[in-house]
Amino acid sequence: TQAQPTRRGALIVVEGLDRAGKSSQCEKLRDYLSQQGSPVKYIRFPDRTTPIGKLIDSYLRGSSHQDDHSIHLLFSANRWEVAKSIEEEIASGTTVIVDRYSYSGVVYSAAKANPTLSLEWAWQPEIGLPRPDLCLFLGISPEEAAKRGGFGAERYENETMQTRVRELFRTIFEKQNGVSIIDAGKSIDEVASEIQGAVAGCIARMDATAPLGKLGP
Ligand code: TMP
Ligand code: MG
Repeated sequence: TQAQPTRRGALIVVEGLDRAGKSSQCEKLRDYLSQQGSPVKYIRFPDRTTPIGKLIDSYLRGSSHQDDHSIHLLFSANRWEVAKSIEEEIASGTTVIVDRYSYSGVVYSAAKANPTLSLEWAWQPEIGLPRPDLCLFLGISPEEAAKRGGFGAERYENETMQTRVRELFRTIFEKQNGVSIIDAGKSIDEVASEIQGAVAGCIARMDATAPLGKLGP
């Protein structure tokens, strides 16, 4: 009999506004999958630990200035620097959960309303990155977000930016297939079980012969 090829892991992206609970839900999902015996890894963008990530961190905390285009490309480079290792994990059968990805990348940059930084411009450096098998968007109303506490002190954590970001997420996810919109205004456990359902379905569809895709134009 022939050996079964290893089923590849899935690339699962979790997106959403600040305060939607992305990080807590990613941790819950990681714990759930590992309890199920599924190899899993949780990463987040920006990855502030690399040299590029340190530049991003200092920009976000307001201790340095960057041109809008330049910081955009650094966020993208921060994904490219781990793209290969993501592909390797997936090929070896590990499911990778990613907290924010290219969608945050284009939406936050385009929300600055810089006349030469459109969504279309912003998407270009993302082309060719590993394509998520599933993207979960955690949606939350401005009222519910406000209840969860005020904005943090980082750049972008203000009403004007968050409102534009909300609009732009809607714009890009309306024309995107394979996005699960989750109502993140529900309780942590309700949201977690909805996410588990969507992810279980996605992992069940994985097989070694369907390779990980790449983001297209
Ligand atoms: P975090 O709060 O998830 O650590 O993300 C920090 C901020 O960076 C958040 O406001 C969203 C923003 N961001 C971008 O502007 N571009 C990107 O590519 C990513 C991943 C995040
Ligand atoms: Mg934040």
